[in-house]
Amino acid sequence: MTAALEIRDLRKRYADVQALDGVSLTVPEGSFFGLLGPNGAGKTTFINILVGLVRKSGGEARVFGYDVEDDYQEARDRIGLAPQEFNVDRFFPIKEVLEHKAGYHGIPADEARERADEVLKQVGIYDKRDTRFDWLSGGMKRRFMLARALITDPDLLILDEPTAGVDVQLRRDLWDLIIDLNEAGTTILLTTHYIEEAERLCDEVAILDSGNVVTVASPEELIDRGADRIVVQLQDAPAGTPDLPFEDDRVDAVELDGNRLVVTARRGGLVAPDLVRALDRAGHGIVDLEISRTSLEEVFVELTRTEDGAAVDEPAPALAANGEGGRR
Ligand SMILES: Nc1ncnc2c1ncn2[C@@H]1O[C@H](COP(=O)(O)OP(=O)(O)O)[C@@H](O)[C@H]1O
Ligand SMILES: [Mg+2]
Repeated sequence: MTAALEIRDLRKRYADVQALDGVSLTVPEGSFFGLLGPNGAGKTTFINILVGLVRKSGGEARVFGYDVEDDYQEARDRIGLAPQEFNVDRFFPIKEVLEHKAGYHGIPADEARERADEVLKQVGIYDKRDTRFDWLSGGMKRRFMLARALITDPDLLILDEPTAGVDVQLRRDLWDLIIDLNEAGTTILLTTHYIEEAERLCDEVAILDSGNVVTVASPEELIDRGADRIVVQLQDAPAGTPDLPFEDDRVDAVELDGNRLVVTARRGGLVAPDLVRALDRAGHGIVDLEISRTSLEEVFVELTRTEDGAAVDEPAPALAANGEGGRR
């Protein structure tokens, strides 16, 4: 089976910035794939190369087997993109914008009209079909961007930070919509710096940092790599840290603070029963036990830490400003 995306050693250099530094990735057909990374990691550059908005400096990118440059139109016709920034013809009713877009991709006019109605209903703004884009509310604009991405019934739907700055209700609506699309067979590529979003939606994620793929794994696998905390309240404060008579390379640390025992371990849910048995055998009464699992967010922060130890978190204003604006 042809992969939805086959990327080999993809590179992009803008003047003095190496935005992509040899990215290799395979996105299987039908998957819900997340591209995670702090601001400036290269996510939008990656996507813009796929849709022909940015020219790569090196490497290879194929969309369902079609080279993004040599077979531009075939590759482009398979992709629906909801970009991070609104880039819409503001002077036409939104229904017409959709029809133009369909026409550009070779869909006949009568079919385009039907398709436009269908996607406007799908995203819940059909009653606004004769309104200009500028007059839509912020949430409706986001819905419209999704409708426009769907107008060609794409095999690969790319969403670049689709829920940045939207309210909780709309975020949930958008999630439900894309889950349905994925279940109906559409491959989804989602970029986000909301880690919770990736955790909820994606079956596989690539973590991108400074133009490099740091890791590719399922959210569950990544979470399992992080350390969980098992906090046990003991009935009486032991004289010293209880000797835990089980050899376990999952356990990173055991700390005692009064009658509170904190065990740091990988896969804490599996370690906890052994821990309880060991404490019980050693005669320690247990009053309470709590396991806090690492979140994908913590693992992500750990993996994308900069050299000086500070995690990349907030966008530098200059990066945020030119990330999507300058097209070449
Ligand atoms: N048109 C451009 N000209 C120069 N530098 C750019 C341009 N677009 C992006 N960059 C730089 O490339 C890097 C990656 O940006 P971008 O792909 O927008 O990352 P992300 O989407 O992950 O935030 C950043 O350092 C950004 O400043
Ligand atoms: Mg971006």
